[in-house]
Amino acid sequence: MGEYFKIKDLRVGFKTFEGHKNVLDIDTMVLNKGETFGIVGESGAGKTVLALTILRLLSSPPAVIESGSILFNGEDLLQKPESEMRKIRGRHISMIFQDPMSTLNPVFTVGEQIIRVFRNNKRISRKEAEKEALGMIEMVKLPDAKNIMGKYPHELSGGQRQRIVIAIALSCGAEFLIADEPTRNLDVTIQAGILKLIAELQRELGVTVLFIANNLGLVSAICKRVAILNAGRIVETGSVREVLKDPRHPYTLTLLNAIPRNKGERVNRVNTTIKEERDRDLRGCRYYSRCVEKREVCRDSEPVPGLILGTHWVACHRAFEGGEPGGGQHTEG
Ligand SMILES: Nc1ncnc2c1ncn2[C@@H]1O[C@H](COP(=O)(O)OP(=O)(O)O)[C@@H](O)[C@H]1O
Ligand SMILES: [Mg+2]
Repeated sequence: MGEYFKIKDLRVGFKTFEGHKNVLDIDTMVLNKGETFGIVGESGAGKTVLALTILRLLSSPPAVIESGSILFNGEDLLQKPESEMRKIRGRHISMIFQDPMSTLNPVFTVGEQIIRVFRNNKRISRKEAEKEALGMIEMVKLPDAKNIMGKYPHELSGGQRQRIVIAIALSCGAEFLIADEPTRNLDVTIQAGILKLIAELQRELGVTVLFIANNLGLVSAICKRVAILNAGRIVETGSVREVLKDPRHPYTLTLLNAIPRNKGERVNRVNTTIKEERDRDLRGCRYYSRCVEKREVCRDSEPVPGLILGTHWVACHRAFEGGEPGGGQHTEG
């Protein structure tokens, strides 16, 4: 079970004019079959690069996968030839992008687009494909599916479009769904509807979901386990309950304080980029410049993940001051 999906020692970088830049450095990440696992991090943390690496959709160059393995059903995706990856994409692993229009073609009706996906993947007649497409639109709970079939993407609302994208993602029977900030551009009530839909589909179809967000609130709404990503590193991971109840990394605390509690409440927007970029080049913690709790040791030595309790791990020197347990090898599952 624990080996359904496993990332090990994954390092991804980009070749830039200033030289090589590391953007992902993940020691271990395990997803169990049928769970919804959340990845949370701010803009620039490496979430989309992670998703694209799994699907092998990163353009290389400039991207370079330096090392690591991504085991899916026991096979390493990073070792697969492109011809096999083409069969895996859509049929086994599918992705929902942040912007539905990057998936949808503006010049065809949404019905036509789903029909094409079916006909490209199954030997079925147009009539049968139409029936299947209708079924998919009903599955993503869009009322009056027949009418929706004939609409062009621009005639639909943002929430409706994202539902169509979900229908397309699942129409070839994918068992693993990567949702990359699927509700980012939607307002709060529409967001809630999409989250509910993903949770329902996950239960009904038994798919495994890697749910990516920049907001810990969204993830805690539908995931049982979560990993916090900062500058390409997982700084804290555990069950949502463990992490929310007892956050140990200063970055996790910042993210927690950024969860809006009431509708329309202004929150502390956390600002990444420049300092974080610089921290990628440090030998020490990649949260160093922004950390309000930093110590001398944090600049020179990168903290290794240590166990707090249960399945809760954190990579922070401060968390283990005073000889608390930890410093062990990170082998969650
Ligand atoms: N084509 C590229 N060339 C150089 N750097 C890139 C490229 N694409 C992404 N990056 C860098 O990779 C890091 C992670 O980006 P991304 O995965 O898109 O972040 P997120 O999805 O978490 O907002 C960023 O620092 C970004 O600048
Ligand atoms: Mg992104």
